[in-house]
Amino acid sequence: MLEKGKIAVLIEDIKKKKELQSIDDDFVERYLIKYLHQEPALLKSLQEKFNSRSKAYVSVIKYVRAQLRRVYGLFRDDAKERKSIVEVLLKAPSATRAALIQQILSTHSSTQERLPIYEPLYSKIFAISGKPKTILDLGCGINPFSFSYLKLKGCTYYAYDIDEEEIEAINKYFALLKKENPSFTGKAMVADILTITLPKADLCLLFKMTDVIDQGKGHKRTEELLKRIPARYIVVSFATKTMSGKKMTAPRRSWMEWLCKRLGYEYTILEFPNELFYVIQK
Ligand SMILES: C[S@@+](CC[C@H](N)C(=O)[O-])C[C@H]1O[C@@H](n2cnc3c(N)ncnc32)[C@H](O)[C@@H]1O
Repeated sequence: MLEKGKIAVLIEDIKKKKELQSIDDDFVERYLIKYLHQEPALLKSLQEKFNSRSKAYVSVIKYVRAQLRRVYGLFRDDAKERKSIVEVLLKAPSATRAALIQQILSTHSSTQERLPIYEPLYSKIFAISGKPKTILDLGCGINPFSFSYLKLKGCTYYAYDIDEEEIEAINKYFALLKKENPSFTGKAMVADILTITLPKADLCLLFKMTDVIDQGKGHKRTEELLKRIPARYIVVSFATKTMSGKKMTAPRRSWMEWLCKRLGYEYTILEFPNELFYVIQK
């Protein structure tokens, strides 16, 4: 492999693109190392000559950036606007908070679409799972800002994502919630959900994550993750519209249903206009 210093240079270069700037370094490194293992000729060429203008260097940077955009970049929309609303939220009187939370959730397409459904969604989930004391939100994006819609008094909320900026903002929001309600504990962490050990929980949210996890290569990774999640209930969600905005003719995911049957998990489907939720009981 390449020396640590050279790996660091490549990571820094990959992250020079604005939309990739706040990704966790370890996550970038994992993609980089994987690619170098796959392409021994490129690796050899970089070992012999480490030059940012060489063909090998440029193609490694290009490929890893493309991969990262696939799993990550696609979802960063109004990050800048969101950051400034979060700053306002932290100082705002509590009477204005609901409106600011809605503004924050509106900066991302998935959470914006959920605004009218968050309340019925969470209450339908709890009708199945019971009110959770501990929640995991994996690949959370900005979903933890929907905490007030959960209508839980005391709760521990663990949120994970590879985006450093998002996690920092969520932790600030969690600190605000904690200050007002000592029976709430929230921890947001920069981590790759495919490699970390997860804490035990009552309910795990895995919203719109299977495509990101599986990357078009079957569903083995989702299966491994589902088996590994130490929670009795896991909610897995899917878009019911295509990327171009067309309604899917068959939004149910038969592979998910087969997977649950094979693993002996029960599931209930909650269907909303833009999103389908499988509430899985392990
Ligand atoms: C499609 S978005 C879903 C966000 C959120 N779950 C929602 O539906 O509102 C995917 C999110 O997963 C994060 N992500 C991608 N791969 C990840 C990984 N291996 N570990 C943790 N987070 C990841 C991305 O940064 C992004 O925020």
